[in-house]
Order: sequence, then C-alpha cells, then structure tokens
Amino acid sequence: MMPSSPLSLFPEALRESVRMVQRSRESRLAKRQRGERVEPLSLSDRRALLREFHPDHREEGRAQLRVGPSQGSWLPEELVALLHARPRPLVMDLMERARTHGGLAASLTTDVLVIGGGGAGCAAAIVAAEAGVRVVVATKLRLGDSNTVMAEGGIQVADHECDSPAQHFLDVMGGGHFSSDPDLVEALVTAGPAVLRWLEELGMLFDKYPTGRMKVRHGGGTSRQRLHAAGDVTGLELMRVLKDRLACLDGITVVPFAPAVELLTDESGRAVGAILEQLPGGRPLIVHAKAVLLATGGLGRLHLNGFPTSNHHGATADGLVLAYRAGVPLRDLQNCQYHPTGVVFPEKLTGLLLTEKFRGLGAQLLNRHGDEFVFGLEPRDVTTAAIIRECSEFENGVHLPGGGVGVWLDIPLIDWIHGRGAIEREFPGRFKEYLHMGLDLRQVPLLAYPTLHYQNGGVVIFPNGGTDMPGLFAAGEVTGGVHGRNRLMGNALLEILVFGRRAGAAAAAFAKGAKLAVDAGLGHLEAYLEQLDGAGIQPVQSSPRLLPAYGTVRPV
Ligand code: FUM
Repeated sequence: MMPSSPLSLFPEALRESVRMVQRSRESRLAKRQRGERVEPLSLSDRRALLREFHPDHREEGRAQLRVGPSQGSWLPEELVALLHARPRPLVMDLMERARTHGGLAASLTTDVLVIGGGGAGCAAAIVAAEAGVRVVVATKLRLGDSNTVMAEGGIQVADHECDSPAQHFLDVMGGGHFSSDPDLVEALVTAGPAVLRWLEELGMLFDKYPTGRMKVRHGGGTSRQRLHAAGDVTGLELMRVLKDRLACLDGITVVPFAPAVELLTDESGRAVGAILEQLPGGRPLIVHAKAVLLATGGLGRLHLNGFPTSNHHGATADGLVLAYRAGVPLRDLQNCQYHPTGVVFPEKLTGLLLTEKFRGLGAQLLNRHGDEFVFGLEPRDVTTAAIIRECSEFENGVHLPGGGVGVWLDIPLIDWIHGRGAIEREFPGRFKEYLHMGLDLRQVPLLAYPTLHYQNGGVVIFPNGGTDMPGLFAAGEVTGGVHGRNRLMGNALLEILVFGRRAGAAAAAFAKGAKLAVDAGLGHLEAYLEQLDGAGIQPVQSSPRLLPAYGTVRPV
C-alpha cells in the first residue's frame, strides 16, 4: 500500500531538501527548454577533476604486485592480496597428488571448458557448440547469475544512419583516455550491427517505435544516440534469450555451483582443464579439456576503497587469480569504474544501480540546494569525480541521519520532459520495485552516490579472445584492453557478446586440432608458489575467494 504522502518514507532531515528539488523543477525545465544547461567540462578541467577526486587517483589503497608477468604494477590492495595469496586448501591437497601421480585424473572430459555462466560465457558456449564441439559450462552459482543479468540501461551499437562504427570507435577511444587497444576496439565496434541482428534472431525484445525502428538514446560520453535497451532490464532480457538458445543446443553440459579454483596445465605449458570446487561441501571435480575459456566476470565484491557495489555476489576476481598464476599478464587494473549513481537511500539497496538511462532521458543530478552541478552525460569517471567533489570539498551533499551522503537524481523530471507515462514505460523494472517500497519515481527524486561497478582492465587478450597461454581464451569483464582506463555505458554488453562469440569460435577451432592431455597437473602453480617464496611473501589468505567476505565492508 502507498504511504499517505510521497515523502513519508524519507527521514525528516531530508524532506526539506526534497521539497527544494520539487520547487526548482519548473524553473530547471524552463531553462532546459531554452537550451540553457551546465556545460560539459573542457578536457583539461576533466583531467584536473579526475586527478583530485576520482578514487583511482588515491594514493592509499594501492599495493605493488611483486611476482608474475605484471610484476611492479600498482593495483588495488585487495586485488594484490588475492594475487599474493596461496591456493585454496583443496588445491594444496591436490598438488601433492598431481606431483606423485604425474597429473590428476579426470572426473569429466570435454572439448571446450567455459568457466563462467554470465553473458560472455553463454555467448561463447553457444558459438562453440554450434561449431560442433562438446562444451562444459562450469558456473559458480546458477547459469545466468552474473553482472550481465543485472545490466539495466542498454547496449551500444552504431546501426543508425547518422552513426557509424568509426564514430563509435572514436567515442570508445576518447572515453578510455586513449588507452584502449585499438585492435580490440575495432573488433568491438565493427561487430556491433551483426550482434544486434543475432540478438533479434534469438528473440530479444528491444524498445522500438510502432514502425519497428529501434529507439536509441545517449549515454555519457557518446557523440551519437546509440544505446539500445529493453526498458531498464536489458541484461535480464539478454540473458533470457542466451539461456534459451543454450538450452536448445546439443553438446553443452552445464555444471552449476562449481567455481573453478585452479587451471590445469600440461608439461608444455598449455591450459588443459581446471579444478572445480563444488558448492556446498567443497568436493573437487577435475575437468580435462582441449581448450579452456575464462568468462568469470569482475571484482566489484572486493569493495575497493570501501565502496559499495552494484555487482552480483560472485564478482570476486577469481578469473584474474587463475590466469595470473598461470602466467598470463594483466592490464589497466589500477582503473576501476565507480558508477556515478548507486543507491544511497533506501539503505537496504545501498550500492545498487540507478541506471545512466535516467540521465540519458533528462534526469538531473542536484545538490542539497536543488542546484544542478554537473553536465549529466559526462563520461562516467568525470561524473563520479564531480559527485565526490560536490559532497566533499563543496559540502553540498545530502546527509542521511545514519551516515550516508549523496546527491539527488531528479527522476520525476523525465515525465515533465517526455510526458506522463514515460517513467513507467522506460523504467518498468525500477518503477515497480520502488513503488513496492513506497517510493513513487514519478514524484520523488532518489539519493545517489558512486558505487563500484566495473573492472575496466583485466587479462590481456588478442582480438580473437586468445591469451599468451596456448589453449586459454578469455572474454568479457575478466579481460582488459577494450575499454582502457574508463568504459562508457553500454559497451560492456556489446563486449561480452562480441568477444564471447570470438573466443568461443577460437576455442572451438583450437580444440578441434588438440588432444586431451595425459599429464594435466599443477606445474604452473608450483612455479608461482616458488616466486612468492622467492619474493619473501608469506600469504595470509587463500584465493580465489569465490564469495565476498562480509563484515569487512567499510562505509565510504
Ligand atoms: O547505467 C547503466 O545502466 C549501466 C550500464 C553499463 O554499465 O553499461
């Protein structure tokens, strides 16, 4: 049942600030209609803002990686601790057996082992199975439990007349501060239109005009409107069709609740399988494969710099640990994405996403006085830094009695701009969710603050999804290079499909020319442990972590 007044759910201390937002709405709309706006920042102002206020630039919270191919890099200390950790107890036990028996016997064999059951893993598995090889998909939780399924705002594809892959390429490169791998970006943007057609063939329902033409919207930092969405549940709709397609194919075995805890390698240094640790109970499942594909997602649940996160519970950097111990280099992991608008209130949703599509349709970011303080569609890292500055240096944040701070996202303005019904139509997921809690998004703004959203960097890959290690492929958020130091909205969903499909095809081709190993073991791990020892590192924890260690999340 709806509360008596739209404001009754807000603590008393916040209500006057909400009223200011409501009072200033009409004049803000009038300004907008006159074409007056807060201007985007110049490049040099953006740089200065990022240097001072973006969490990536904080001196504290970083540590130096002291072993392995990316030795010397300064990375988030939580990640370095996992890379400097010892293997899980199950793996330590199996190491001895592998040494004495010349390898570990298989519980399961396959052509391609896909580790991860989110969007990249499913896309890869589909393409590999369609190429005629046997596939095992090992997933930590259930198939589809991933950041993909939680994606809200859309997928970027340059498919309209006024746009082109070349224009998309420039946006990705600029948004990433010109640090992306241009070959990967070219692969990303040129495959976009074909990926969109593939999704439509699979039955994905996009937002369209009655003529059948796709609706496209702006995201932050994009020079063209190219975001295609399914309301505000784009990832859910995407996973629906991927899971349907996967279920229709012969030759795919899904192993749920079985996270990979170590890769297996042969004498020549090829990836030949993995050890899975079944949940609950921790029994090992040894999978031998001709090719292995990592699609394990990101690291949001490490709560870097004490931030809350928009990520699902399995986002604990497992794939980075597995690949790095096997000798595969990492890149750009000193840069993480803090999405500008994570939920601050209601507190039980802290850190979850308020999609950038709200700002794409005109919702403004306002300080406690109801004033707009930043152009709402700056690249993500810039908007994030502006919010942090507004709440810290300028002391213009809205404070919750319980300790949180944030700025207003004036969602009701969307109906004022686009007409009544726009919010319900464009944001069916969030609209119902908040209404159920007593917050009517047509009437009240929401409080937002940056939340840890995405791992910009990761495992170094080639454009076909291959890595430095023969037999090992990778796709999706676990990889680095596509987005450089800052990803723009909607390019993650495109990436998981483009590179999931590429890596799936390359892994299948590799598997067709390979044999199962007879000596699948842990030689790479022994070498890594020797390096740790040589560097005088005495691990205090084991990794991969698999699930977040709750109780340790500090408020920002
Ligand atoms: O704001 C969003 O809907 C997030 C999209 C993305 O990270 O690509």
